[in-house]
Amino acid sequence: MGSSRWFGITAKLLRSSCQKNTLFDNFLHTTPVRLKTTVKNLKGRKTSSQQWLRRQLNDPYVVQSRLQQWRCRSAFKLMEIDDKNHIFRQGDVVIDCGAHPGSWSQVAVQRVNATGEDSEAEVGFVIGIDMAQTAPLSGAQIITGDFTLPDVQQKISKILMGKQASVVLSDMAPRACGIKSLDHEIIVDLARTALTFSHTVLKQGGHFVCKLWDGNETKALEELMKTYFHTVKRMVPNASRKESKELYLLGIGYSKKMDKS
Ligand SMILES: C[S@@+](CC[C@H](N)C(=O)[O-])C[C@H]1O[C@@H](n2cnc3c(N)ncnc32)[C@H](O)[C@@H]1O
Repeated sequence: MGSSRWFGITAKLLRSSCQKNTLFDNFLHTTPVRLKTTVKNLKGRKTSSQQWLRRQLNDPYVVQSRLQQWRCRSAFKLMEIDDKNHIFRQGDVVIDCGAHPGSWSQVAVQRVNATGEDSEAEVGFVIGIDMAQTAPLSGAQIITGDFTLPDVQQKISKILMGKQASVVLSDMAPRACGIKSLDHEIIVDLARTALTFSHTVLKQGGHFVCKLWDGNETKALEELMKTYFHTVKRMVPNASRKESKELYLLGIGYSKKMDKS
């Protein structure tokens, strides 16, 4: 079967399986169908944009995320984190900070049985928060807003209605300005904000995952996490781009008793 026909069928499948056009547009934005068209016009594009397109086309995680209907390739990072550390259980409540376009929330929804697909298991719940408008996702409640603002955090607490979360995720990242030390400081601040918020919502034994771009303050954050979690690990998932300084800190087994704040 020719590749264009094959991609056409994939796009058709995606269209029929997505309830909302906005969601389908998210997929279409990165489908090979559109990339193929765009690639024809490479000559008029900036070198950086040509490089981006070529990288997307040659990235197996991008290809697989389209085929498996994840909203972006980041899904593979969280799946690997969970496969190796078992952070999710069916019935869990998960807070996903920096959720757009939604692939981590998709993974969480699936792994905590938030849509009740497994009728014999407990049904979980996911709250996704992002400054960017995120397409609706069955099994998740999406909040659009800046997570660092108190009123956004209050909205999350309100949705929880006194329930505690089993997992807090932060894949929040600023738009990188290119000054590595500054980008590092900003992403560490976002992770710290998520960690501080965790104290108000995370249950005993719960887990915390945050994304960082490695730098001077990584060690200090890791040490801080050790005062709250039974085990703290660094992880660089296989899907993290080789040229990136991205890493994830995992706090496994939250203990309020260890909280020295
Ligand atoms: C790497 S993307 C997240 C990808 C997401 N985990 C997924 O799998 O679809 C980082 C996100 O963090 C969000 N972000 C950055 N700062 C934020 C803030 N203060 N509040 C909420 N979201 C924020 C950005 O808007 C961006 O969508």
